[in-house]
Amino acid sequence: MRLRWSSSVLSALLAFSVGVHAIGQTTCVSFTSSRSSFSIVSNKKATPVLISEDDWPGVQRAASDFVSDIQQVTGVKPSLTNFTSSSKLSGGENTAIIVGTLGHSTLIDEIVNRTHLDVSSVQGQWEAFMAKEVSNPLPGISSAYVIIGADKRGTIFGLYDHSEQFGVSPWYWWADVPTTANSQIFVESSGCSHSSPTVKYRGIFLNDEQPALQNWAMEKFTNGTGAALTGSPFNHLFYTKLFELLLRLKANYLWPGASCSAFCVDDDQNQPLADWYGIVMGTSHEEPMMRSIPVEWSLFGVGPWDYGVNMQNIYNFWVVGAERAKPYEGIFTMGMRGDAGDITLLEQIVSDQRTILSNVFNTSDVTTIPQMWCLYKEVEGYYDDGMRVPDDITLLWTDDNYGNIRRFPLPSERNRTGGAGVYYHYDYVGDPRDYKWIATFQISKTFEQMSTAVARNATEIWIVNVGDLKPYEMGIEFFITYGWNSSIWDMNNLDSFVSSWAQREFDLSTEDSDEVASIIANVSRFNARRKPEMLNGTTYSLINYREADNMLADWQAVNASATRIFNKLPSSMHAAFFQLVYHPVQASATIGTMWIYAGINNLRVSQARLSANGYAEMVRDLFEQDYELELEYHSLLNEHRDHMMDQTHIMYYYWQQPMANTMPLVSRVQSKKQALPGAMRIVPEGTQGAWPGDDMFDCAQQYSCPNPTMFLDAFVPAGNRYIDVGAGGPTPFTFTATSNASWLSLSPTGGSISPSSPEQRVFVSVDWSQVTDAEYALISFNATVQDQPPMSLTVTFVANHTVVPSGFTGFVEGDGGVSIEAIHAARNTSVDGITWTTLPGYGNTLSAVTPWPRGGEDRNFTVGTGPSIEYDFYTFNTVNETGNITVTAYMGPSLNALGPDRPLAVAMQVDSDEPQVTYFPNGAPGEEPAQWDTLDGWAADNLIFVPMSFVAPPGAHTLTVWMVEPAVILEKVVIDTGGVQPSYLGPPESIFIS
Ligand SMILES: *[C@@H]1O[C@H](CO)[C@@H](O)[C@H](O)[C@H]1NC(C)=O
Ligand SMILES: *[C@@H]1O[C@H](CO)[C@@H](O)[C@H](O)[C@H]1NC(C)=O
Repeated sequence: MRLRWSSSVLSALLAFSVGVHAIGQTTCVSFTSSRSSFSIVSNKKATPVLISEDDWPGVQRAASDFVSDIQQVTGVKPSLTNFTSSSKLSGGENTAIIVGTLGHSTLIDEIVNRTHLDVSSVQGQWEAFMAKEVSNPLPGISSAYVIIGADKRGTIFGLYDHSEQFGVSPWYWWADVPTTANSQIFVESSGCSHSSPTVKYRGIFLNDEQPALQNWAMEKFTNGTGAALTGSPFNHLFYTKLFELLLRLKANYLWPGASCSAFCVDDDQNQPLADWYGIVMGTSHEEPMMRSIPVEWSLFGVGPWDYGVNMQNIYNFWVVGAERAKPYEGIFTMGMRGDAGDITLLEQIVSDQRTILSNVFNTSDVTTIPQMWCLYKEVEGYYDDGMRVPDDITLLWTDDNYGNIRRFPLPSERNRTGGAGVYYHYDYVGDPRDYKWIATFQISKTFEQMSTAVARNATEIWIVNVGDLKPYEMGIEFFITYGWNSSIWDMNNLDSFVSSWAQREFDLSTEDSDEVASIIANVSRFNARRKPEMLNGTTYSLINYREADNMLADWQAVNASATRIFNKLPSSMHAAFFQLVYHPVQASATIGTMWIYAGINNLRVSQARLSANGYAEMVRDLFEQDYELELEYHSLLNEHRDHMMDQTHIMYYYWQQPMANTMPLVSRVQSKKQALPGAMRIVPEGTQGAWPGDDMFDCAQQYSCPNPTMFLDAFVPAGNRYIDVGAGGPTPFTFTATSNASWLSLSPTGGSISPSSPEQRVFVSVDWSQVTDAEYALISFNATVQDQPPMSLTVTFVANHTVVPSGFTGFVEGDGGVSIEAIHAARNTSVDGITWTTLPGYGNTLSAVTPWPRGGEDRNFTVGTGPSIEYDFYTFNTVNETGNITVTAYMGPSLNALGPDRPLAVAMQVDSDEPQVTYFPNGAPGEEPAQWDTLDGWAADNLIFVPMSFVAPPGAHTLTVWMVEPAVILEKVVIDTGGVQPSYLGPPESIFIS
């Protein structure tokens, strides 16, 4: 059983001292002294930092960052000295900070020898570190705070762990996060420590680094021309900034940009400097043997990139890659993409690559050289078809490019010596559509997927595709932090990750950082529901459930909240907050609002409403505002971030990014000409039609339709209906709205309509105490029109007083259906310790439930025997009076990750009927299921809809959802009793009676 720390334990961990901001790690720093503290800086005096000359250059370098970081915080820079046991401290000092790598620092080894310091917690542990105060470590030093790494990166991470707690954000340079000043720094005598990370290699992939990262780097790191052979701007000045960031985040692994660059060719210092810093280099899944593909092959390759016909040239090409990489720490990508499915040839390729490694490294045992085979797209198909590689090669399993991991190692695959890992995406170029503009992931989902990777032993390598790196800062940090120590995080403390992050970056109060966490949760959810690149004007229903209106209100609320925090922050924080929070909120809200306005415009022109024109103008304004926000980003701090938001994102014509942002199509009505039926337009809620006059949606005949009829029952969640009264042209009019029923009320009861005020929404509500069963009323709209005869139109309003028998508890049908958020269950039954458990914040609407713990056993159940979760509901209708209802489970878009013979499944049952089960479709080897693709597919909708039909006459019922296979996720249940209308999110949750 892995250790799980609750939120309260976590906050205790974080609570050592007010003002110390760290994310998840144990804290050992404070800004006030205590009896047990050791001074780093106090009384304007810094304790000297000692290091050993023979330590790793990367450790030497990080130590110089360490002393500069202390200076950033306190204004006092400690001395940093190469020290030996015969050296003397200057100026009467007798305390020191001593830094070094066990077994690679004579200084540390001597201290261990002299003091018998117990280093067993780190000795031989990959990347572990310890720190504590030690008495009399060396002659002339009475006390020292020693920071000891088990290996090169262990020491480096130990240093940066302290720097972060001192107040230097890992993002201080990349996101301009200011360092909070403190005149003194102390560390607890017992110090900080960390054992080996959960995941051995943790890293990022800069992918498709055009246009943003490339244009920015060209401006900031070159004199305007890139590398001689490739034109790439990604030289060592760029990469050393990135290496430092990675190390501060406690990442250790990098796939460099490859689309238009070649790491080892762009700048011949790149590769040695990576190693010198301590970064393990790799190349992406499609670039074998440490050579950039396609760039290096186009420059240096001879003949076609096809091993079947051009074996010797490709072999020689790979020899160069291996020789070049030999002196440095790296992980070789094995195999080859593009040799369509010839498994014998592919196995030959891997075997030849191993021969190359054996020759170049002059060893008969290549298993000591880190190697990886990435099972990306079609390559996983080769694996499924039986292709195998030697046991010591790490298998890198991949997601579907949309954050859903396609396959994890099966129990039989978990004992390979090379282990397994995951290649994940925050950014993607390809079908069904690119997404590379703004953060569209939810960390609740990243956690859900990557925790399963931990449970199933895919912890050798984690790499995430981060496109242009920005603006994915927080998501990157979560991915790396979770891989650094997965035991700290569980589904219930993810919000505290975001709020501690906000506290660290912006020095906010607890209350304000909680608000930032909620801002980020909301924006992530809105962008994850549907990628901004896939929005159109009717994504959110313009007519049903007030869905588009609610989305507009949500955008406004999150924007107002972010504005409040922005205005509260000192101006020194504005650039960081803008990059990390405010721009994503404003830019996403602008695009989200623009698309809805475009949809409203399109609908209203078809309804002959003058107000359509105002929406056309607002769309144009928001379209321009999008670029203004981009410019604001680019102009921050003297154009420090110029080009970083160059990515186009409005109006895709196919999967690939548009070459320019283009405005959504809008239309106009002639503003001076009156609509044929007259000055007044009447549009009831819930229809695409408009009255008077003809509209294809007014009735089936599409012309000469009767006046509208509306329905309301007692359990419609909104509680009322509306009728829009609008201008059908330039002529002003006044109107009254009256009804013939005392149980019906209208608000307002009239208004004035003119081109400057072209719409009035009239709400209709019902006093249910006066209505028995179904009654109807007439609502009359009478208009007095300037210089024209009066107009009138009557709407029939049917009120149906549905009544639930007393004693019923549960959700009640309203508006022709029952909608239930999955976490609002009535009962929940565990089996064998597995329970449907809440994943807070996961998914499109609220949260989700999933069988938990996932465990490594991948336990499944026959239908009707597993863990179950129950929902009580009451119906008044059935679909077309057939006696049937349709229950649709809104499932998270996870994929079948246990191999082709273990498809995901869910079972549902109504009352005591036979449970029904649906197995999710499998794709062909290496492919997603057909239902995954297209703009209405699983990936685009971020949901899998699982409908089942049940016999259920009107009355009280219980829906039981059964676990069949692990890792299914239920977000919401929608029960159609005949009236459920199209919408993106499904009907809002029904009224619950208790
Ligand atoms: C310590 O020695 C190393 C190796 O000679 C050198 O690179 C480094 O700059 C020295 N550090 C200091 C602080 O003098
Ligand atoms: C530490 O002690 C061991 C054995 O007593 C010795 O082999 C080693 O050289 C010593 N190391 C240092 C740095 O003094």
